[in-house]
Amino acid sequence: MKEEINTVKPSSGAGMSRIDGRLKVTGAARYSAEYNVKGLTYGVLAGSTITKGSIKSIDIKKAEAAPGVIKVITYLNAPKVPGYQNSKPDEKGPLKIFYDDKIYFNGQPIALVIADTFERALFAASLIKATYNEEAHQTDLRANISKAVTSNDGGEYKRGIADAWKTAPVKIEQEYIIPSEVHSPMELHAIIAQWDADDRLTVWDKTQGVKDAQSGIAKLFNLPEANVQVNSKFVGGAFGSALQTWPHEVAAIMAAKVIKRPVKLVLSRADMFTSVGYRPHTWQKIAIGATADGKLVGITHEAAGQTSSYDNFAEGPTGISGSLYACPNVNTTYKLVSLDVGVPTWMRGPGEATGAFALESALDEISYALNIDPIELRLKNYAETDPQNNKQFSSKYLSEAYKMGAEGIGWKDRDPKPATKTKDGWLVGYGMGGGMFGAYRGEATVRAVMMADGTLILQTAVSDIGPGTGTAMVSIASEAMGIDPKKIRFDMGDSSLPPSPTQGGSAITASVGSAVYDACKDLKEKFQQLIGNGGTDKLDYIKVLKQHNLPKLEVTTTSHGGPEQGKYAMYSWSVHFIRVNVHPATGVVKIDKVVCVADSGHIVSPKTARSQIIGGAIGGIGMALMEEVVIDHRYGKLVNNNFADYHVPVNADIPQIEALFINKPDPYINALGAKGMGEIALIGMAAAVANAVYNATGKRVRELPITPDKLIGMDADLS
Ligand code: MOS
Repeated sequence: MKEEINTVKPSSGAGMSRIDGRLKVTGAARYSAEYNVKGLTYGVLAGSTITKGSIKSIDIKKAEAAPGVIKVITYLNAPKVPGYQNSKPDEKGPLKIFYDDKIYFNGQPIALVIADTFERALFAASLIKATYNEEAHQTDLRANISKAVTSNDGGEYKRGIADAWKTAPVKIEQEYIIPSEVHSPMELHAIIAQWDADDRLTVWDKTQGVKDAQSGIAKLFNLPEANVQVNSKFVGGAFGSALQTWPHEVAAIMAAKVIKRPVKLVLSRADMFTSVGYRPHTWQKIAIGATADGKLVGITHEAAGQTSSYDNFAEGPTGISGSLYACPNVNTTYKLVSLDVGVPTWMRGPGEATGAFALESALDEISYALNIDPIELRLKNYAETDPQNNKQFSSKYLSEAYKMGAEGIGWKDRDPKPATKTKDGWLVGYGMGGGMFGAYRGEATVRAVMMADGTLILQTAVSDIGPGTGTAMVSIASEAMGIDPKKIRFDMGDSSLPPSPTQGGSAITASVGSAVYDACKDLKEKFQQLIGNGGTDKLDYIKVLKQHNLPKLEVTTTSHGGPEQGKYAMYSWSVHFIRVNVHPATGVVKIDKVVCVADSGHIVSPKTARSQIIGGAIGGIGMALMEEVVIDHRYGKLVNNNFADYHVPVNADIPQIEALFINKPDPYINALGAKGMGEIALIGMAAAVANAVYNATGKRVRELPITPDKLIGMDADLS
C-alpha cells in the first residue's frame, strides 16, 4: 500500500491507568452541579400534568409565599429569549421553554421555582397548580403507525431491484420492535448559570461539547461567543443525552438573569426520562431472500420510529442493511410518527443499534431456514468493498473478528438445533451479532506547551463523558514525545481552550488524538529547529530550553482529515458473542459468557478501550433484556420513570466480559491508525442476545426487551 499514511506502530502492553481514576474514586473530581458559586440559588422545575393542550390558568401564589422562595418563572412572566423570537410560528424545533401556554408532552416544564435551598425550591414547586384546556393525545407508536411519514433524513434507499427477496428460494419476513430506552447516566443533567455582567455568562454545564454549548447559548441569548464561558470538566456519563442544549439549560440561564444571582438547576431522575431525549420506540420489518447455498438475493428493510409533535428526530436505523453485507438488491424506507411525547435524541449507536437488532436477528432467522451456520452465512456474504458505492474500505478485519470471537465463546460447542443443549436444568444457547459504525474524524486544535521543568501541557476544549479521553490523549503524547505520562497534563472541558469537536459519534480519539499527535510532532520540530541539527539524538527538552534561556516552548496545531476521507469507506466493526442460560419453567435469562471483538484500528489506550467495550456491551445487554420506557397511553404519562421500575443491568446480571481487539492500524484514517469504538461496543449486542435465547429455547423474541413472560411456554420443557 504505497499511499499508506500511518506512521505509528501499534503499542503493546496493558496500557495506562486512568489519569483521573483517583480523582473519580475519591470524589475529588468535581461535576457541574458541585461548584460552590457565591450567592448560589436553587431551581426546581414543575411539570405539566396533562399531555396535550394549553395552560388555562397557573397559580403560583402559594409557591411565591413559601419559605425561601426568590422567584417563580412561568410563560406569563419569563423574559424573552432572543433566539426564540427568530423562529417562525409553526416551525419545528427544540422546545421553547416558558414561551407560551402550549403543552406538547406530559411533564413538560411549566414553571421554575428558585429558592435559597434546593429543599425549599422542591417544596414550593409542589404548590404550583395549573388548570388546562386538554386535548386528545397520541403517545402510542403502534396505534399510530399508519400516520408514519417518510423522513427527509436517510428516508429511502435502493440498489438493484426492489423487493428482490420475494424471488429467492429461501426467504423470511419478520417484524422487530424496540421500545423507547433512556440513556440513564448516573450523573443527572445539571447546570449552574452565572451572569458575570449584563452581556457575560459563565455556566458549569453537563455537556458533551463545550464549544457547541457555547455557540448554542450565545445564539439563544444573542451574545458574542467569547462572552459565554462553558465549563464541563467531568461528565458522569451521557451516551448522547448531552449532545445538545436543552430547555432546562435555557431556563437556568434565564432565571439567573432575572434574579441577578447564580442559579443551579439539576434535573430529577424523573425529568431525565422526558427532558433530555431517549432512543425512540421503533417498529421495523425485514425481509431477506437467499439462494439455497446461502447467497443473499435481496433485503427489504422498513422502519418507523417515533418523534415529537414540535421537533423532529431522525436517526436512520435502516442504513446498516445497505452496508453490512454484499447483497445486490437492497431497498429501505424509514418513516417518522409524530406523537405527543418529548423529542427523542441520539443514544449510543444511534440508528445502527436499532437497525442491527432487526438485521442481525433476521440474518440469524434465515441461517436456521437455510441450515447454515450464522458465521458461515456472514462470511458467504462478506462485503469486500462498500456495497453502497464500491469504495475500498480504509481497513476491515471483520472476518478475523468472527474467528476470534467464535474461538473465545467456544462456538464449536453450539448445537445448531435450538432447545437441545442443557446444563444443570437450564437451557444453553449461543448467539452472535455484529455491528458497524462510520469512522469519523473532525477538525480539532491542540495547544502543546513544554515547560522549563519538562512538564508538557496539552490544551483543547473537548469534554470527556467517561471513556477516558484524557488518558488516551496523554498516552498518545507520551509515545509521540518520548516522555513519562506523569509529566503530561491534559486540560479540557473548557470553552476558552482551543476548539475541539463535541464528544459524539465515536470520533474523539480519531479527531483530538490526531491533533494531539500532530501538535507533539510540531513541538518536536520546533525543538529541532532550535538546536539546528538533523535531530538524530534523543531530545532533552529541559536542556534545550535552558540552553536557549526559554521559560517554555509552545505550538498550536489544527488537525483534520485529508482527501483520503472521501476516497475510502471508513468504518469500525464489532461482533458480539453470547452464551446464555435460560430457565425453562420461569423464562429467566442469565448471560453466562460474553465475548466482544472490536475492529477499530490501532488501540491507543488498551485499558480504557477495554472499559469502553465492556460498558457498551452492558448497555446492549440492558437493551436486550431489561430496558423499556412504559407509557400509560390513557394519560400519556411515563409510569416507570425511576430506577426501581426502569431496569438496567447491575453487577449480578453481568458475567465476566471478554473484550478482544483486532488492533491493526487503519492506514488511511489518521497517523495513529485509530478509529472509534464507543458505538460499535453496543451495536449488534441486542441481536446477539436474542439469537442466543433462540438457540437456547427455540423461541424467537422480536420485541425487546426479552423479559421472562415472553419466554414462558417455550417449546422445550425440561420440568
Ligand atoms: Mo453518542 S450517541 O454520539 O453520544
